[in-house]
Amino acid sequence: MSFRARRQTLHHLLGDDDGVVLWLGSTLQARNYPANPYMPFRQDSHFLYYVGVQAPDFAALSYPDGTEVLFGHPVDMDTIVWEGPQPSLEERAQQAEMTQWKDLSTLPSVLQSLEKVLYLPPFQASSLLRLSEGLSVSPSECREGASPALVRAVVEQRLVKSDEEVEQIEAALDFTAHLFHAAMAQTKPGGSYAQLLGYVTGEIRSRLWDFSFPPILTHHGEILHTHDYDGAMESGRLVLLDMGVETSLGYASDITRSWPVNGTYSSRQRDMYNIVLQSQLDAIDAIGPGVPYRDVHRVAATTIAAGLIDLGLMKGDAEEAVREGAHALFFPHGVGHMLGGDVHDMEDLGDVVGYEPGDSRSSQFGLNFLRLARPLAEGHVVTVEPGIYFIPALLEQWRAANKHESFLNYDAIEDYLSFGGIRIEDDVLVTEGGSRVLGPGIAKTVDEVEAKIKG
Ligand code: GLY
Ligand code: MN
Repeated sequence: MSFRARRQTLHHLLGDDDGVVLWLGSTLQARNYPANPYMPFRQDSHFLYYVGVQAPDFAALSYPDGTEVLFGHPVDMDTIVWEGPQPSLEERAQQAEMTQWKDLSTLPSVLQSLEKVLYLPPFQASSLLRLSEGLSVSPSECREGASPALVRAVVEQRLVKSDEEVEQIEAALDFTAHLFHAAMAQTKPGGSYAQLLGYVTGEIRSRLWDFSFPPILTHHGEILHTHDYDGAMESGRLVLLDMGVETSLGYASDITRSWPVNGTYSSRQRDMYNIVLQSQLDAIDAIGPGVPYRDVHRVAATTIAAGLIDLGLMKGDAEEAVREGAHALFFPHGVGHMLGGDVHDMEDLGDVVGYEPGDSRSSQFGLNFLRLARPLAEGHVVTVEPGIYFIPALLEQWRAANKHESFLNYDAIEDYLSFGGIRIEDDVLVTEGGSRVLGPGIAKTVDEVEAKIKG
């Protein structure tokens, strides 16, 4: 992969809006005092993609005429004493395919000598502060000064994954498959969620890799993003594990499976699981170049509504129920998002990633959480992750308001109050002819999952 070629492509994409682009790397983030930072260090994904330097406190400028300069701290003896020998600034510049390098302390004066600098919206306080000091403007002016043209060009370039990037995602998925199968095999009544978390954490760190986001490991699958790992595994409950890893180059996987603690889905769990599975398979089938991801979401939601109608929890016409938003009592999130160098790829740049110009999020509950609606193109990598959840507080609120009562059999639903939640998630490449589920295959049907739990 050529970082210089990527930067040149970007300047080309900027067209009439081209200018000097500032790439700002991340700093270490203090945990409880500055010398005790969150580790391992995670570089800003845009910096990783365009510059490739995997260390804190770097910045770079790329000019339309091809001039490029890397900025960093010169390696001094104190650093060598405390942190060991380091690559020189020159070596770092070579790695980034740049021919010039400068002391980071000179960046503000260089920035102030430039008429206009294009930069992405900073999302970390430390980057915002560094930029506002460098440009001599207030933090709020600094935020407003981010370049929409640069945002658009970066999104256009990074959304389409090269073969090398897809290989990275598949490398993450190979390891993720091993972790999921091992986690299934280690599940047993009386086991501890914290211990299982410790196991997967140890496996990941023993490769010097990291999670791509804080994992979700719970029998409260209905709490969409819970990070509570306390408690014991109880027979009769479903474990939901939503977890991904990232490779040393920062590429992510993002997988969810939901399986029975005691190794066998009850008939109620199996029925519900098979609705979610069918919804995911239908959604994957719908994926292809030119297909708006909003339609993929609608396909997933309609299969869920149809399945719940068959089970007697919903009633009426599935498509109409989905149009009205009644299914969102059970499926209140979007069916997926872009995946790549970030698990929610480029989410720091906002909805410009998932929505085309002129399109925006719906205000309807459920659909408002859809991160991705744009037409898909060959080379996009997306997650497909429908789910069914029983969220007691939401049910109580909707029932009190008789919300969507023509589509919801509230008495029947009450009987599932303590069911929890099921989600099934895979990572999918959009191909010329449709799509390909990435990775080696992770147990997904009822039979496959039960076999893995039993070991
Ligand atoms: N896997 C967590 C999420 O997509 O939000
Ligand atoms: Mn996801």
